[in-house]
Amino acid sequence: MKDNENHTLTFDEFDEMVNPRPEECDFDRIVESALSRRGFLGGVMAFGSFAALGGSLTSAEAASSRFAYDQIGTSTADEVIVPNGYKVDVMMRWGDPMWSDGAEFDHATRGTAASQERAFGDNTDGMDVFPHDGKLLLVVNNEYTNRSIISANAVDNRLVGEDDIAKGMMAHGVSVVEIAFVDGKWQMVKDSPYNRRITPNTEMDLTGPAAGHDLLKTDADPTGMKTLGTWNNCGNGKTPWGTYLACEENFNGYFSSSEDVQNDDPKSITPAMKRYGVNTEDWGYGWAEIDERFDVAKHPNEPNRAGYIVEIDPTDPASTPKKRTALGRFKHENAEAVVNGDGRVVVYMGDDERGEFVYRYVSNGVFAPGAPTDDLLTDGVLYVAKFSDNGTGAWVALTPETTGMDHAEIHIHSRQAGSAVGATTMDRPEWIAANPKAPEVYCCLTNNKNRGVKPNAGGDDTAVNGPNPREKNNYGQIVRWRPDGGDHTAPGFTWDLYVLAGNPTVHSDAYAGSSNVNADNMFNSPDGLKFDSNGLVWIQTDGSYKNEGDFAGQGNNQMLAGDPVTGEIRRFMVGPNECEITGLTWSPDRRTMFVGIQHPGERGNSHWPEGGDSVPRSAIIAVTREDGGLVG
Ligand code: FEO
Ligand code: CA
Ligand code: CA
Repeated sequence: MKDNENHTLTFDEFDEMVNPRPEECDFDRIVESALSRRGFLGGVMAFGSFAALGGSLTSAEAASSRFAYDQIGTSTADEVIVPNGYKVDVMMRWGDPMWSDGAEFDHATRGTAASQERAFGDNTDGMDVFPHDGKLLLVVNNEYTNRSIISANAVDNRLVGEDDIAKGMMAHGVSVVEIAFVDGKWQMVKDSPYNRRITPNTEMDLTGPAAGHDLLKTDADPTGMKTLGTWNNCGNGKTPWGTYLACEENFNGYFSSSEDVQNDDPKSITPAMKRYGVNTEDWGYGWAEIDERFDVAKHPNEPNRAGYIVEIDPTDPASTPKKRTALGRFKHENAEAVVNGDGRVVVYMGDDERGEFVYRYVSNGVFAPGAPTDDLLTDGVLYVAKFSDNGTGAWVALTPETTGMDHAEIHIHSRQAGSAVGATTMDRPEWIAANPKAPEVYCCLTNNKNRGVKPNAGGDDTAVNGPNPREKNNYGQIVRWRPDGGDHTAPGFTWDLYVLAGNPTVHSDAYAGSSNVNADNMFNSPDGLKFDSNGLVWIQTDGSYKNEGDFAGQGNNQMLAGDPVTGEIRRFMVGPNECEITGLTWSPDRRTMFVGIQHPGERGNSHWPEGGDSVPRSAIIAVTREDGGLVG
């Protein structure tokens, strides 16, 4: 999802108002230290042009056979561009019916609440495939909707009328779809018994340390154990036992308050709600108009029932999704699960907000194929990351002893728990990905215009620090860490920056980017991140497509791949106008790569994928090689 400012929001304005600017920080010292230290790439981080890289360039060139494609240029065309020898098919689009009784998408009406409930949701995001019983199931997040795209009647990006509001609601959630390669193309299998729409109205269980806590109880659910639905699922995860993890991100923007707010201090918005951005106004979705549980003046605990990781079993369409409070409550980007050497399950997670934190969950039990897995995401310890400027770091356990909060509350107000232990404020942690070839973990820090300008919503200092070395960071970076001893449960780690994005055609200082960024591969705002089974790390962007000023020559949002060993990065794909590229997975034989194209035309300037005067539609594309070879 785009930065908050692309919603019709008031949170930023609120944030600007209540958070004063901190004292000046030692910007030069921090950036110099981060860039000159010899990281895992052996000094590649010194900024400047690629040509200045010297010996490292030679090694990158020598290793270039790892990339099975020639780099492409930037693009501002309203189409998907891939390298020579690759081709793109559109596999499924927002509004495509998943059952044969559903209406085909109608560009004139853009559908109804009833048609949307039987169709693929909007704004595709995190996804994974699950081979099952000889079939291939694709599970996809439908993160949010652009109100002015899903309805021709939206006013100032605000939905009007009960059916349009309900249609918007039904376009959210998760889609489970069987897919098959038929007649030379990947296609949705309509009417598959596995097809399922999970929406903001689907019944779910609350599990883990916070389940049943008073803060989770509502009039509709006095037990605090059952809740309805999931929305704004951003990235995703996949467990070793074959379930899907949907990650609730900007859950706050759907709540509003019916309190008469003629004053600056509405009583219905508590400090705890403010930390999570819940405000008196929603972002134009209008959900409280059709369902009062989204009115915090009437149901103040409802926001506490969102902001979790949701586990879904795609192989059982009748299963009840489970919200896993053990993994904390924040604006979850994705959930990268790894099985540690001792069998414990470790899940790395980022909280995508300016100045929020990176988390790690470690199960108490161990994973063994075929053994019960029920406790693995309910019984464990949640940690938060502290990065030191010297290239080391530590995981701090969030416990009653370290935070002064009770156990359940740590899992409801995880941000406050992180602040209590002095976690490192980060430049908007997006996807985290673990290298399948080495014990190391990468995290996109997409950008942060507030770095060095003002604190986070909890008042934590955001002066530049080791992994976040640039004030008013408009380009983003990727940090990576190696757990001590190769043990993902270890208390400590070492870190470096894999790349600092930037623009070397505009800047000659730290904003030019690191040495593995050059005029030919530059990008901004890394967001989606995933390793392929061959060990390349794929980077998807959700940034500025202005193509001018600081972003001159960077074109539309794009996808690149990086070599973890040499640091070399090559552009693979450029998306259509005003889209974000997000969500990535492969067919089991790795001969097809599935990629999500989210919010084409979010500002009204795209007709992708159908062209002409058509309504732009978020879609999943299938990328294959013309010679049938492996992709990635
Ligand atoms: Fe939904 Fe953090 O992007
Ligand atoms: Ca994202
Ligand atoms: Ca983003």
